[in-house]
Formats: sequence, C-alpha cells, structure tokens
Amino acid sequence: MGNGAVTTQGATQTAQWTKKDLLGLRDLTPEEIRLILATAESFREISLRPIKKVPALRGKTIVNLFFEPSTRTRTSFELAAKRLSADIVNIAASSSSLSKGETLLDTVKNLEALKIDIIVIRHAAAGVPHLIARHTGASVINAGDGAHEHPTQALLDLLTIQEKKGRLEGLRVSIIGDIAHSRVARSNIWGLTKLGAAVTVCGPPTLIPPHIEALGAQATYDIGQAIRDADVLMLLRIQHERQEALLVPSLREYRLRYGIDRERITLAKPDVLIMHPGPVNRGVELDSSVADGPHSVILNQVTNGIAVRMAVLYLVAGAAKSEALDDE
Ligand code: CP
Repeated sequence: MGNGAVTTQGATQTAQWTKKDLLGLRDLTPEEIRLILATAESFREISLRPIKKVPALRGKTIVNLFFEPSTRTRTSFELAAKRLSADIVNIAASSSSLSKGETLLDTVKNLEALKIDIIVIRHAAAGVPHLIARHTGASVINAGDGAHEHPTQALLDLLTIQEKKGRLEGLRVSIIGDIAHSRVARSNIWGLTKLGAAVTVCGPPTLIPPHIEALGAQATYDIGQAIRDADVLMLLRIQHERQEALLVPSLREYRLRYGIDRERITLAKPDVLIMHPGPVNRGVELDSSVADGPHSVILNQVTNGIAVRMAVLYLVAGAAKSEALDDE
C-alpha cells in the first residue's frame, strides 16, 4: 500500500508510507516518523476551520477496540476519524461478545467480515496489536499495549516539542517517573532518539528498568540533575495497575523525592517545557502550580493528538492525495 508524496507547508515530503499498520516507533525509520509529523502539521488547521471536516477517508470504516480505560486516545481517534469523514464504531470489550467467551481473534475475524478497514486497539497485554495485525487484512493501529508501546502518544509528544521549540535535534528530554511500566516512555525514547534528541530517564531505582541504556537513554536517580539539564520535562504517573508489588514506599515519599512542585521547577531552564501524557495525578508527580503554570504544554499535547491520529489514519488507509484535503 504505497501513498505517494504528501505536500506540507510548502515542502514536499519524499518519504513513502508503505506499512499496513502502525504498531510502534521502534520499527519506524526517522523518515517515516518525519512523514507522520509533517502530515499531522498539514492536518492541524482543519480543526481550526468552522466546519472541521475533509473528505479524505470518506467510505472508510474504523473500529475503536479498547480493552483498557481511555479518555484522550479513544476520543481523539474518534474525532480524527470523523474529521476525515470516516465512519467509526466504538467497541468496549466489556460490552462485546468477548465477555461471553469469544476469542480476540474470532472477534477480529468477525469485524473483518463486517468489512472494516482499520482497527485501533488498546490492550493490557504487550504484543496484542502485533498478533492481530498478522491475522487480519485490515490496518491495525496500536493505541497502547501493556508496558510496551504507545506510538501515537509519542508522535503527539514529538509534534508538540517541535511546535514549541522549533526542532527536536539536539534537545535534552528528561522523562521522570515510572519508566518500568510506561509504554509512553518506551515509544518516546525510540522516537526522540531517532530524531536526534537526547533522553535521560529519572525515577526510583525500582521503577527504572535494567539495561535502559540499550534503548538509547541515560539513567539518573538525581532529580536535580534531570531537571537542570533538560529542555523538556516529561512527567509520568505511577502505574499501580501494572505493578505486582509495591515499588515505592508511599505516594507521599514519591512526591517528596521526585514530584515537580513550585520549588523544584525553579531548578529548570527558563524556557523548559512541562509535558505529561495524562492522566495527571495532581499532587504526586506534578503539583497544580506546575501542571497549570506557564511552562505547561499538557493541553497542547491533547490538541495535537487529533492531528497526529488524523495523519496516522490517513497514511495507513493509503489515502494520501493532496486534493482530498479540500473542503467538502
Ligand atoms: N495518554 C493517554 O493514553 O491517555 P488516555 O489513557 O486517556 O487515552
């Protein structure tokens, strides 16, 4: 499925999108990541129009299949599909026939029989989107698989940094929190380093996986160093739902040692960006004074999620024809 060149902001992106699925950033080349970001930039203004709709994916059918809770990802995939004029159906696993014993692959085969084009899936088990992708002709987009990858979150993070800083290359990004259980950290490490940023991870030793350097990141347990050196601070919540044992003594202890509050933010560069994928646990990893403060781009990340997901849907659907961006 080749899509041809996409023209964005006067520059022609010569990279070709050839993949049926988007399963992770580990598998993408820097050129493919740049193509998604450039396509997302071209889509951003559609959400500013009085009529926020283009016919690019008219006739395509998308299924949102979520096995874990979501506010931002599920909603922005739905809005992205609607802004591209696709039909989209939401399936909550708890109210589907999966709860009556149907296997996931049978569910996917039945969806395929309903002639769907794209499946967006979130699942607690790492590798489920990859398994499905091997068993269906439909495109599969990973909306988060366990602690493995969350590619569209990292792409919207990259887009937000690029928008605010004008570049990614040469920047220093500190990711602070529960790295061990974070699909967001993993996808960001791959995406940021492929585009020339340096990544440091910081958190309690129990929440930093061994051999993190093999992914391309540096590790530190010194929160002051992680803050002082960074152009971007990306905060993550403690993922209790993925921990089998208590890995921090208490949330109060975590906040004292690693939380970003009014005092700690004074260590940062004057133009530092504060990012968080959400949901934010206010008063734990981030105080409200910082989450809602002048450095915060948390809601810009959410807004950019629509453009990024429009770009990903558009590219995997093989619909990259610039004339399709015209108003209806
Ligand atoms: N960042 C993120 O994945 O948020 P949701 O869980 O609300 O989708």
